[in-house]
Amino acid sequence: MKYLLLLLLLAIPVMGIAQNNPESKYDEFILTPEPPVSPRITGPVLYGLRPGSPLIFRIPCSGERPIKFTAKNLPEGITIDEENGILTGTINNPGSYPITLKAKNKSGSVSRKFTLEVGNKLALTPPMGWNSWYIHYDRISDKTMREAADQMIASGMVDFGYQYVNIDDCWMMKLKSKDPDINGKRRDEQGVIIPNKRFPDMKGMADYIHAKGLKAGLYISPGQHTCAGYEGSYKHEALDAKTFADWGYDFLKYDWCSYTKVAGKKSDPDYFTRPYSLIWNELKNQNRDIVFNLCQYGMGDVWEWGSEHGNCWRTTGDLGLEQRNNLPGFYSIGFSNARHAEYAQPGAWNDPDYILIGWVGNANKMAEGTPTDLTPWEQYSYMSMWSLMAAPLIFSGDMAKLDKFTLNVLCNHEVIEVNQDPLGKQAILLEKTEQKFVMMKPMHDGSISVGLFNTGNEVNEISISLSGLGLYGKKRVRDLWRQKDIGKFADKFTTEVQPHGVALIRIY
Ligand code: GLA
Repeated sequence: MKYLLLLLLLAIPVMGIAQNNPESKYDEFILTPEPPVSPRITGPVLYGLRPGSPLIFRIPCSGERPIKFTAKNLPEGITIDEENGILTGTINNPGSYPITLKAKNKSGSVSRKFTLEVGNKLALTPPMGWNSWYIHYDRISDKTMREAADQMIASGMVDFGYQYVNIDDCWMMKLKSKDPDINGKRRDEQGVIIPNKRFPDMKGMADYIHAKGLKAGLYISPGQHTCAGYEGSYKHEALDAKTFADWGYDFLKYDWCSYTKVAGKKSDPDYFTRPYSLIWNELKNQNRDIVFNLCQYGMGDVWEWGSEHGNCWRTTGDLGLEQRNNLPGFYSIGFSNARHAEYAQPGAWNDPDYILIGWVGNANKMAEGTPTDLTPWEQYSYMSMWSLMAAPLIFSGDMAKLDKFTLNVLCNHEVIEVNQDPLGKQAILLEKTEQKFVMMKPMHDGSISVGLFNTGNEVNEISISLSGLGLYGKKRVRDLWRQKDIGKFADKFTTEVQPHGVALIRIY
């Protein structure tokens, strides 16, 4: 009865607000404390780039502006924009370059170690950013992309490490379209791909994104056309890789889709790898670091070979199309992704698809956005699972309609620290029943992050054995969503977890 009442109390504000005031829905469920006014540098402590490639890195830092950024031990060739905290330049010699970043405003100052690893590995921590697909579908345009970049700064997401602004499908010309904007010559005489009329200046768009210290990404298919029927890269791989680099793109999602038609026989041992290794080699020849995302829905056990041909690989079908059973689709996608934990490592990540919260459009109908139907606790569970699994953190809802609650889910620096941990381990699923599951991720400093998830419809008590994790004696336990120490525990930690909710803790 007590729980029923609680559920009702939780449900009333949720139902009322979702209908008429999207801007403030769920505010009362906010757990993430406001960041202090003094500067706080967050985000990755390691960043990989190749010798001679241009660096653009905006230091994720919350706090009241103006902030003055400085850096000690900046390697030759790298400069810092002191007002915006953007590192740019190139480093020619491979090696490890430790830097001390400093941020100062009228309320205080902070410094933090940050290492540029110049070698052949990119994405040493999971990529973070935004992708256009689940909100704009085939309505995407240059204008919306630029606005998304503006919003990444204005919303403060950038201050927590989000940096990629990635366009998905539908920027090219489309075969047999009736829309004059997207119907036209798909390549020029030299074979160079021609964007559709909604993208009058692909290079200009990337420059615009870079000017803010952000990175630009795009999408294409190795097949003759993309999933939505737009021009693909088939037989133009080398030229497309060069074009994307010339335009200045930093991330490529390569979506199998129509490639099946040209892939040949499944008995061919290179059937699954061929299209990816082909363009990966071309991308490596460019004078630009392009993080490569394999999108082929987990075929051919991609986790076993993905690290040889890219930086992250989708492990499942589309999250936005996943059926809700008793539980929302992100759980089943997450469980399936969790099975491949052993393959995740710096530079190579399992990708369970995007974070679909805030305003998102129904993927079946490619519809306009509406507020997510996930409860607040489900959203915490989603973000906790993705963080523990060292998944790319790519939000794909509406950047123009980010409300306070959504930002509190996306922008908790202690939760993001779990995701961006330099050890690069993916959490393993320790335990799973009908009512609950437990994930645990070892961190570089010897601490352990643990998610205690309740998949039941009642409040549940969930425990973890500390000695089972190899932790003996009293250990400090911290609640990461609330950014608060809970206390010291020996042997066992037990907590109440809300229906479809999570206790995300770090044990020191
Ligand atoms: C596939 C991918 C999605 C999206 C669409 C675009 O379905 O899995 O992530 O890129 O194609 O058409």
